Amino acid sequence: MDGSAKSPVLDVLGGRQLKTPPVWMMRQAGRYLPEYREIRARAGNFINLCLTPELAAEVTLQPIRRFGFDAAIIFADILLIPYALGQALTFVEGEGPKLTPPVDPQNLDHVRKTADHEKLAPVFETVRRVRGELDPSVAVLGFCGAPWTVATYMVAGGGTPDQGAAKLFAYQESARFEQLIERLVLSSTDYLVAQISAGADAVQIFDTWSGALAPDEFDRWCVAPVARIIAAVRSQIPGAKVIGFPRGAGTSLGRYVERVSVDAIGLDWTVDRLLARDIQSQLPVQGNLDPHVLRAGGGALDRAVDATLETFGSGPFIFNLGHGILSDTPIAHVHQMLARVRGR
Ligand code: CP3
Repeated sequence: MDGSAKSPVLDVLGGRQLKTPPVWMMRQAGRYLPEYREIRARAGNFINLCLTPELAAEVTLQPIRRFGFDAAIIFADILLIPYALGQALTFVEGEGPKLTPPVDPQNLDHVRKTADHEKLAPVFETVRRVRGELDPSVAVLGFCGAPWTVATYMVAGGGTPDQGAAKLFAYQESARFEQLIERLVLSSTDYLVAQISAGADAVQIFDTWSGALAPDEFDRWCVAPVARIIAAVRSQIPGAKVIGFPRGAGTSLGRYVERVSVDAIGLDWTVDRLLARDIQSQLPVQGNLDPHVLRAGGGALDRAVDATLETFGSGPFIFNLGHGILSDTPIAHVHQMLARVRGR
């Protein structure tokens, strides 16, 4: 026994440095793939795709077949938790997600205390199917949104340019906002535990909008709730592997790393090289190629891949993008990136 885990991604999450880093991409199943667009059309709408295990498993596996990624992230969405807490969820083409009714800062009457597990059950079936289909060398990743990011959609009833509605709620009605966050902590904990129990090897917590908050608010609404989720998950599943992704956290990253016991941290492309190396001296890092340079391709892509490997290659590292792949990215650019990372 050399002590290595069953897959390169799990090796890195365990703190190992690999000569060739494992690779996957956020939003690797999506509209840039013709085979995804075909299944998406067959499903009719996006929620139906997320909640039909046969189709969700199929689109989860598509990028693994095409590119041989080292991890498969379960096809679902962070907004399934608000759906299971009682909000109606729709995706209007070209407009993004809609959650109704928006959460009222004056009362939480329309938000369930715990998620309706039945509504989420198809996701756990998708995990079982995907784990059953893949070789153990490919890690299966579950995920949820972090409470703050999910709350920004619940409060505004959809996406916002500045997360202003949730920020106002947090400043003006902080006790009630705390209750909303607590419901998200509890339901996200149960959701992650169920995904891991169904076969997910690790889970990622997406805090897409953590960069919108002032430092004290970041500590209160991003750091503390995510730390609570991880402690609660590990009290049920000791040693559960968790990747944190506090996008845009910038100079607050240090406090996140110190106080949230993640196994690896996802970095976006804005993180300064010295800060990035300092963070990697403390824990494994995942990231952080700019999705726009993948979209651009050519020499710029080669240089950016080389720079990323140069920054992170001497420590435990999972190669990824700094955020989701753009839907107009040419497939050839993904092949170019993979060949460069894998050195062939
Ligand atoms: O990464 C993956 O491949 C796994 C699946 C996944 C999706 N959404 C599928 C999806 C994951 C991990 C997410 C997370 C998610 N969803 C986040 C956090 C990460 C991030 O990207 O910031 C957020 C904020 C959402 C909410 C959401 N879902 C929005 C704002 C939108 C509309 C914008 C868009 O990109 O279309 C979605 C829709 C969505 N989720 C799509 C996919 C593939 C596109 C749906 C389509 O096919 O039209």
